[in-house]
Amino acid sequence: MKIIAVMSPKGGIGKTTTADSVAYILGEEYGKRVLVLDGDPQGDTSKTFGAYEPEGIGLSELLERHVNVGGDYRTSELIQTTRYEHIDIVPANGYLMRTDMNLMLKQEENQVTRLRDALEEVSGAYDYCICDCGRLLDMVVINILLSASLVIAPVKVGGYENEALHNLEEQVEDMRGINPDLRIKAIMTMRQKNKTSLEVEEWLKTSSGFDVFTTAVRRSIIAEKASMAMKPLPEFSRRGIVSQDYRSMVEELVREV
Ligand SMILES: Nc1ncnc2c1ncn2[C@@H]1O[C@H](COP(=O)(O)OP(=O)(O)O)[C@@H](O)[C@H]1O
Ligand SMILES: [Mg+2]
Repeated sequence: MKIIAVMSPKGGIGKTTTADSVAYILGEEYGKRVLVLDGDPQGDTSKTFGAYEPEGIGLSELLERHVNVGGDYRTSELIQTTRYEHIDIVPANGYLMRTDMNLMLKQEENQVTRLRDALEEVSGAYDYCICDCGRLLDMVVINILLSASLVIAPVKVGGYENEALHNLEEQVEDMRGINPDLRIKAIMTMRQKNKTSLEVEEWLKTSSGFDVFTTAVRRSIIAEKASMAMKPLPEFSRRGIVSQDYRSMVEELVREV
């Protein structure tokens, strides 16, 4: 199971849209077995996949009440099916922020490797685990980064992109002590045809020093409509330009895995 985190310290730059689209394309178009993990207390990805229940069970239980840490849940018991044949999910719930605090207050060695340990149980059952993250480097996201081998970092024009990427690079660098194989790959989202947008794309691909997907995801109102409809974009708009872009991006992703 290849574990991929979609993460950036910026909000509103397409993290959730990217995570949902990648998960949907891998699962429903490539027929891969996909586990989605929602690491954002806002639960947007859980909503997209029809699994958000504020008081339901999910990632909080996986981190706090797993048998590995003396609790009563196995990972498989916290995974829910979705309306998509190849996509399962561990949703976020209303307790995820409290989980962050609870883990932070624990002075135990395993507080940051709980997710990694819990996912081992199902590593043969899925090809990919796609994790949506919030923009804070909280204990939940640290657990995700210590489990993952790749961080996909969406970059948007006007999002203080240089600082955001360097902050993320520093955060990932800190994780490499425990997870040496973790790497970052940036993807430009919401690309427009104006000069500024093209300049940022050029900077990102030629002189930022970051590994970058060749595909840039274009901006379109369709993406916002898909979010409003709480559906994965490539399902909501099969032929739309943003869905096509995410397909090229996933092609790149699958090729290098
Ligand atoms: N390519 C795009 N073109 C236009 N709007 C987009 C695009 N990607 C995402 N959006 C919209 O931008 C907003 C923020 O995206 P989202 O994926 O929720 O970001 P994040 O998870 O980083 O906060 C949403 O309303 C979403 O529909
Ligand atoms: Mg989000």
